[in-house]
Amino acid sequence: ASNNKFFVGGNWKCNGTKDSISKLVSDLNSAMLEADVAKVDTGFPQKVVSLISQNVVVAPPFVYIDQVKNSLTDRIEISAQNSWVGKGGAFTGEISVEQLKDTGCKWVILGHSERRHVIGEDDQFIGKKAAYALSEGLGVIACIGEKLEEREAGKTFDVCFQQLKAFADAVPSWDNVVVAYEPVWAIGTGKVATPVQAQEVHAACRDWLKNNISAEVASKTRIIYGGSVNGGNCAELAKQEDIDGFLVGGASLKGPEFATIINSVT
Ligand code: G3P
Repeated sequence: ASNNKFFVGGNWKCNGTKDSISKLVSDLNSAMLEADVAKVDTGFPQKVVSLISQNVVVAPPFVYIDQVKNSLTDRIEISAQNSWVGKGGAFTGEISVEQLKDTGCKWVILGHSERRHVIGEDDQFIGKKAAYALSEGLGVIACIGEKLEEREAGKTFDVCFQQLKAFADAVPSWDNVVVAYEPVWAIGTGKVATPVQAQEVHAACRDWLKNNISAEVASKTRIIYGGSVNGGNCAELAKQEDIDGFLVGGASLKGPEFATIINSVT
């Protein structure tokens, strides 16, 4: 990891029930996180301790955001998994950024591969969503990543750079943006990228930011990895210089394992 604050997100996707989420929240609430260690060191009362050297967020399905917000300790922030592209109104089935803020969300995941490749969202639409969410004060977890055939055709960097450019063209500032590199072939497949494979793309993305935005943005922007991260592979990945954290799917549905991933901060 670089010197940036480690960032770990749990993307619960379209999973869970009131009961399973209540169990997951209670497991997370009782997990010993790095913040608790900091508390012992600093003597701060638990209430005022937020995670000192990292951000942790979970992204429940929309309908459970309120339940999670009301039951999860505030050392973990809430993210949405998607948001509408502009102000709310007559957009059946959509959820606006204003509504997300009203329910206590601080972040939104945009450009996830399932939204790009299953739902059909394109670069431009995703860019507009990012710009709108940032303008309203949400942090954006901006997802990029190549498909297997693109990797095999040697197009990994081209695809990632094009997706990064679409965000860059749309957002006025990178201050509240975290980039999530999630190779599509690694998502939900159990086939995690090797630390070397992930580091190679992260470093290339950081270079792209340096060459196309600024050296400052390149060094300050967190670039996190997603795709079959679990309690067993997180430590090796976290050691890589340009991996600033994780976006976790399946393993974030298990409280103790997600805590292991959170605690892999180096
Ligand atoms: O956004 C997280 C993600 O797509 C990775 O999912 O299940 O492979 O950890 P998973």
